Amino acid sequence: MALTIGVLKETDKRETRVAASPDIVKKYVSNKISVLIEKDAGAGSYFGDAEYKDAGAKVASRSDVLKKSDIVLCVRRPDAKDLKALPKKATLIGCLNPYDDKQDFEALANAGVTSMSMELVPRITRAQAMDVLSSQSNLAGYKSVLEAAAHYDRALPMMMTAAGTIAPARVFVLGAGVAGLQAIATAKRLGAIVSATDVRPAAKEQVASLGGNFVAVEDEEFKAAETAGGYAKEMSDEYKKKQAALVAETLIKQDIVITTALIPGRPAPVLITEEHVKSMKPGSVIVDLAVERGGNCALSEPDKIVEKHGVKIIGHTNMTGLLGQSASKLYAKNLYNLLALFIKDGKAAPDMEDEILKGITLTAGGVVVHPVLGETKVSKKKAPIKKATVKKTTAKTKAKAKPKAKVKLKATAKTKTKTTGKK
Ligand code: NAI
Repeated sequence: MALTIGVLKETDKRETRVAASPDIVKKYVSNKISVLIEKDAGAGSYFGDAEYKDAGAKVASRSDVLKKSDIVLCVRRPDAKDLKALPKKATLIGCLNPYDDKQDFEALANAGVTSMSMELVPRITRAQAMDVLSSQSNLAGYKSVLEAAAHYDRALPMMMTAAGTIAPARVFVLGAGVAGLQAIATAKRLGAIVSATDVRPAAKEQVASLGGNFVAVEDEEFKAAETAGGYAKEMSDEYKKKQAALVAETLIKQDIVITTALIPGRPAPVLITEEHVKSMKPGSVIVDLAVERGGNCALSEPDKIVEKHGVKIIGHTNMTGLLGQSASKLYAKNLYNLLALFIKDGKAAPDMEDEILKGITLTAGGVVVHPVLGETKVSKKKAPIKKATVKKTTAKTKAKAKPKAKVKLKATAKTKTKTTGKK
């Protein structure tokens, strides 16, 4: 019997993305895989059921997708009641957020479901085509600058006109990872003067290569702040103090601030305090891309645009979702490339010792297998699920496996290149 891949409609009201685009469905079907797609699954990304049908998918109810698929694809982890509906030996793949609600993974393990979390794809060359954090953060970085520009009441580029000259906006990016680097590139393209900071030394050259000015506390701790996986470490209190002083003197000169600083599995570091916000020029804009992990700005609020001390603070928790179709296309391709890795020679042959599969598998064979599930719970700012609105407030600071497959997939991206270190 042919392998069946199921695609769920996302239930989080903020989510516009879908785990398979019609183009990718065509690829699955041409590989003799059946695709069951939940009715209206692509509506948020403007992919209609008819497009999926034309691509060869069957449109089905949620319950059929959950019960009849060998592999279920999603963007976010489904609710506990949906997880219960997954049959034994099913495989669930998506951004499962292993840092919160550990009990869901115990339930999945007990039910004999294999679960794989795309956020955990290791940062190695061979896995780049499956790296959802990169594909999604890149779009978030781009969109964050567009959002900032839309809420900024001045022009970004320098304009020399007969009526006078407008100075270019100054943009400061905190956290120069994937999102931050794209934010720098986008702000440069719009004509702003850009500076950026990070705690990883590798970021210095990357910022400079995009024409940004790198600002950081470059002490001994900074030189050792990058983990083997390419991520930042949590910095010491002493470093944080020095960094806060540098941020304070830099912020007063800025018009737009984009914050993207994250530490995997930890709350986001607070880099902008209320005092910092007070010191900023009226009319400035902050976009806090880390708001879902607690926020880099103490005054940001999830899914709201608030004005505090004359500064607009944008806290979209799903910036990528504001570019639903682009994000879905890339996410769907990331998943396709992952499946190509473990569906081989006409059947499922997951090599659980493979660095990528081992890195993302949370539950398999009836047990929780990933060490990340033993780590600390991350505190989150509670996100009210509603559309962002501009709200003026004053001084108040908020306290703030083994899947059953019988078909071989053709890898489209470079999934067969040799494993090396970080790019
Ligand atoms: P991320 O989303 O975890 O963090 C964003 C940025 O915030 C990082 O650059 C981090 O260093 C910075 N940050 C953390 N704490 C900070 C603090 N206190 N102050 C200032 N900045 C702080 O990281 P992201 O963007 O997902 O990736 C980090 C790096 O991983 C990339 O820049 C790249 O070098 C590497 N990477 C490698 C890939 C590969 O080899 N396949 C793919 C993607 C990224």
